[in-house]
Amino acid sequence: MGKGRVTICQISDIHCGNARFIPDLLDRTIIEVNRMNPTAVVVSGDLTDAGYREEFEQAAEYIDRIECEHIMVIPGNHDARNVGYIHFERLFGERHSVMDLDEAILVGVDSSEPDLNDGQVGREHYEFITDTFSGAGEKLKIFVVHHHLIPLPGTGRERNIVYDAGDVLQRLVDVEVDLVLSGHKHVPYSWKLENMLIVNAGTASTLRVRGDTRPCYNIIEVEDEQVEVFRKYPFKRRELAVSFQPRTQQYSRSKERVASEL
Ligand SMILES: [Fe+2]
Ligand SMILES: [Fe+2]
Repeated sequence: MGKGRVTICQISDIHCGNARFIPDLLDRTIIEVNRMNPTAVVVSGDLTDAGYREEFEQAAEYIDRIECEHIMVIPGNHDARNVGYIHFERLFGERHSVMDLDEAILVGVDSSEPDLNDGQVGREHYEFITDTFSGAGEKLKIFVVHHHLIPLPGTGRERNIVYDAGDVLQRLVDVEVDLVLSGHKHVPYSWKLENMLIVNAGTASTLRVRGDTRPCYNIIEVEDEQVEVFRKYPFKRRELAVSFQPRTQQYSRSKERVASEL
């Protein structure tokens, strides 16, 4: 992992077009993100409610207002409804993408399947993923996928991990990925697996929240190999969620409030 300072903002599940989408939350999130001047911004899927053109156009208008040179956008299951992926490709480009920065490399994949809520990464993409990370040297390695790779508490009946989660996890661990960023069930939560942090984001801009969770997004700060993950609640303060130093294995996680604790 590199030694420079990296700040990554992860916004997920903005769901433009949904009845519970709150414009003020997304307006505020973008203002806050722009003030942070992050190294990169990740938008980890479910930009829309049902993949319709005007929902994508609304999402694109918001994302255009993010003042960051490096923005990675990937689709989620809602974006693959109604052949929405053609609008995604027109507005945001490839559904699988690489962002190669001085200090970090990000690989984003499309785990969605048309008109299904379930997803998979797919064996045909494994080589692209491992080859890209293998050639990344000491850079911070970040994998971005909408669906979960590991079950999370407070998401109801478990049906949210990709079909090929085990195979994907093994490959990510083998190429020493540092960080996985996901969204999907709007539950902010984190796990550490081997030397990898798996970080899930909540929904930044909707009231499609489960149990006691609140709209939020993630801020990931990395400096001198120390990784810190913060939950940021639009208009409100940020809270440290996870802190991890891979070299010393020093790891701490604050208690997160999920539906199962109600
Ligand atoms: Fe979602
Ligand atoms: Fe989703």
